[in-house]
Amino acid sequence: MSNDTRSELERVQERIRACTACRLAASRTHANPGAGGTDSRLMIVGEAPGRIEDETGLPFQGRSGAVLDETLREHGLARGRFFITASVKCRPPRNRTPRADELRTCRELWLERQIELIDPAVIVLLGQTAVKQVLGRSQRMSELHGRALRWRGRIALPGYHPAAALRFPGVRARFREDIGLLRALLERERLL
Ligand code: URA
Repeated sequence: MSNDTRSELERVQERIRACTACRLAASRTHANPGAGGTDSRLMIVGEAPGRIEDETGLPFQGRSGAVLDETLREHGLARGRFFITASVKCRPPRNRTPRADELRTCRELWLERQIELIDPAVIVLLGQTAVKQVLGRSQRMSELHGRALRWRGRIALPGYHPAAALRFPGVRARFREDIGLLRALLERERLL
C-alpha cells in the first residue's frame, strides 16, 4: 500500500470513529473501523461489533475472536496479516442483527471505500450478514460456505461466523475446514 493510500485509509478510519450517519451511533461506545494488516491484500469481514468490541473499539476481541484466532493459528495463519472489519461499524443494541438501512449506510459510506483502498485479493466473509453486505446475496450458509467466488476481480470466500461455530460443534468443524480451504487458496494464489 502506498503512503498516500495509507494516509487516506487512516482518514477514513478517523471519520468512521466519528460517524453519526445512522441510529447505531446513539447507543455505541466506540465505533469499530477495523484493524490489522494493510499490505497483504487480505480482508476479513464479520457482522457487527459485540460488547467487548464496543468497549475497546477493536474487532473480534471476545469469544468469537478467540475462536477465529485459534482456528487461523491452527492453519498457520496470523491474524495480523488480515485487515479485519465488520459489516456495520457500531454495535447494534442487544447485538441484534443490523437492519437493511444500517447496512446500506455503512456499506456506501465506509465498507466500499475500505475495500477500494485495501484492495484485497481475497476477502473472507464470515456469516450471512457479511455475505449479504458484500455480495448482495441472501443464501443459506450451508450452500455458500467454503466455495471461492469471483467478485469484482477479487476472490470472496464465504464462511460460517465464529459465533455460530461456538454454539454448534458441527459448525465448528466446518469453520475449521473452511479456514483450511482459505489456507490452501492463499497458497495457490501465492498470497502467503
Ligand atoms: N462479531 C463480529 O462479526 N465482529 C466482531 O468484531 C465481533 C464479533
